[in-house]
Amino acid sequence: MMLLVQMMRGTAMHAGSRWSRSVERLISSGRDINSSAHHFSGFGEACTLSCGHGDQTKVLITGGLGQLGIGLAKLLRRRFGKNNVILSDIRKPPSHVYDDGPFIFSDILDFKNLREIVVNNNISWLIHYSAVLSAVGENNIALAKEVNITGFHNILDVATEHGLRVFVPSTIGAFGPSSPRDPTPELCVQRPQTIYGVSKVHAELMGEYYHHRYGLDFRCLRYPGILSADSQPGGGTTDYAVQLFHAALKTGHFECYLRGDTQLPMMYIDDCVRATLEFLEVPTDSLPSRTYNINAMAFTPQELTQEIQKVLPDLKVTYNVDPLRQAIADGWPKALEDSSARRDWGWKHEYNLPELVQTMLALITQGKQMAEAC
Ligand code: SER
Repeated sequence: MMLLVQMMRGTAMHAGSRWSRSVERLISSGRDINSSAHHFSGFGEACTLSCGHGDQTKVLITGGLGQLGIGLAKLLRRRFGKNNVILSDIRKPPSHVYDDGPFIFSDILDFKNLREIVVNNNISWLIHYSAVLSAVGENNIALAKEVNITGFHNILDVATEHGLRVFVPSTIGAFGPSSPRDPTPELCVQRPQTIYGVSKVHAELMGEYYHHRYGLDFRCLRYPGILSADSQPGGGTTDYAVQLFHAALKTGHFECYLRGDTQLPMMYIDDCVRATLEFLEVPTDSLPSRTYNINAMAFTPQELTQEIQKVLPDLKVTYNVDPLRQAIADGWPKALEDSSARRDWGWKHEYNLPELVQTMLALITQGKQMAEAC
């Protein structure tokens, strides 16, 4: 931790070569951030595994250019081989995405396009990350309905038609003010008050129904807010936490749109993508449930600020509450109860708040340093 403190102070002063030496020391002495999902290297070493039906696992990730897709693709490519994991989106990616492995256009609202991709590439796992998040959804309900509900129906249909294993993330947003909030159990009242939450409850129920009715291998994890250093979330309520890190290193000041005492469940991206892979690898007959809560930590903006201030004591956070996002957060869990995932398939998080802060600051600093060097 001492090294991190020194490094960040050096960073704030833009201390040139001392900065780079500090970063190197931190990276070589601290948590092994180079082993994280974001920093796997050498796809040549990738092992190739089968999906249990004697066939090579071939994965399609939709919404691949959001916060999670690239990180998950890196982990899956290491597991299954570079060319067996296809990232897709409707947007054009930065060029390094093309360099890292297959990337294709895929529009989840176009069923024929989806079917063609699944058939032509012999897809066996479909990981469905396309979604409109909570805050954006409230500002464009028609879009949220189309992407999160109509699009999801296409996913269900193509997965059922071709016998795919299908993973869809759900969220803390699938609960609402009438749910028990601290902690929120897996099975309880779910009456969300956002279109995002309603669409995710719909996905949970439809997926479980298709599993029951057609034998679809549907799997769903309720993710907390996810923090990542090199990809930004977009349009969510938990996004402040990622923004705070970037602002802390860039300007030393952050204006937070949530009240300082708003506690939400959170998770570092490496835990999130590892949970997803571990859950997907459980043999289908060994899974007693199809939808699980997963949890790692829970904190408020004040607690996150205090932890970052141990490294960057000059960080200043002010509050300018956005009523829309505050109302959303006030109806969400303060913590998730995840004992079923821990019992049924061995879920175990690795990152608590201090490790999260150390890792995020180190990786963002490293990224800035590399960008400056280019
Ligand atoms: N991160 C999401 C949001 O804030 C919650 O799952 O909308």
